Amino acid sequence: MKLLVTGGAGFIGSNFIHYWLKKHPADEIVNLDLLTYAGNLANLADIADQKNYRFVKGDIASYEVVDELVRQADCIVNFAAESHVDRSIGNSLVFVKTNIEGTANLLEAARRHSVRFHQVSTDEVYGDLGPNDPKFNELSPYRPSSPYSASKAAADHLVRAYYRTYNLPVTISNCSNNYGPYQYPEKIIPLFITNLIEDRKVPLYGQGSNIRDWIHVDDHNAGLEAILLYGRLGETYCLGGDHEISNLELAKEIISLLGKDESYIEFVADRPGHDWRYSIDFHKAKEELGWEPHIDFISGLESTVRWYQEHEAWWRSLKN
Ligand SMILES: NC(=O)c1ccc[n+]([C@@H]2O[C@H](COP(=O)([O-])OP(=O)(O)OC[C@H]3O[C@@H](n4cnc5c(N)ncnc54)[C@H](O)[C@@H]3O)[C@@H](O)[C@H]2O)c1
Repeated sequence: MKLLVTGGAGFIGSNFIHYWLKKHPADEIVNLDLLTYAGNLANLADIADQKNYRFVKGDIASYEVVDELVRQADCIVNFAAESHVDRSIGNSLVFVKTNIEGTANLLEAARRHSVRFHQVSTDEVYGDLGPNDPKFNELSPYRPSSPYSASKAAADHLVRAYYRTYNLPVTISNCSNNYGPYQYPEKIIPLFITNLIEDRKVPLYGQGSNIRDWIHVDDHNAGLEAILLYGRLGETYCLGGDHEISNLELAKEIISLLGKDESYIEFVADRPGHDWRYSIDFHKAKEELGWEPHIDFISGLESTVRWYQEHEAWWRSLKN
């Protein structure tokens, strides 16, 4: 199979390319990435010269770039996105351009060339939950809170419209918060780990009471693999890590793994519109695809901490 992976120089995309080529060495991957601040070819240096891997620098919103690459592909896996909620609060326009227009451009090319399309989406499209609300599932209404999640929601709607209107072979996954190697150090887990390695405090929004469901990036990628191989066309699959914790508990875990104490926590003004809780019911993926997360959170977090300790040159070049 020939995969066109977009955003493959980012956190999840680069982990996905490694994962896929290891499991499917006969497949070919073209990685289309604009190399924004979040894209980093160092993530893929070890496979850069592999015969079945090719990198193309370009914008998913560009007709010229996308048309030819899609024509040569069997399947598109769309990771490319502006992905940081805080940045979307500062300037939403680039989120609209990449996440909505870029996805629309890929869908149009997929339609012209009859190519399978998978949209890598987020549980944030569903908004947030109260303490006693049932978990999100595939039938939960869309209620995005931030410009980031609104742009991802709009893209999901476009993907579904292309299935309904043109019968384009599509699937969507809505996944919870990922952690693991190669995550840009603006996101909470790598930010906290690298701050502590630098003997700096960790900034915690509000009281740290917001709850997230954490999934290791390799479990996410196994879920994407199951959907690409066995998912029913036109369907959405929710993927979650089955590990809900508050940001305060998360900070304490990371602090203890780094051998520090709680004086390193600095409470800061809350993020505007901050979602309170995410939680994912992944029964559909489990029943239909036989997928469930396997990586225990504490051992996954330990190995992630170790990765950042052993790859200081990687993250120091990205932090100011
Ligand atoms: N990180 C998470 O916890 C999480 C959870 C669920 C879903 N997702 C989704 O997974 C995808 C990947 O997330 P991530 O955390 O790896 O993001 P990331 O910010 O680390 O990577 C995004 C990549 O997309 C590239 N890119 C940005 N704009 C582009 C454009 N116009 N054309 C081509 N490439 C472009 C960047 O250069 C970067 O390499 C996103 O679609 C995100 O919404 C992320």
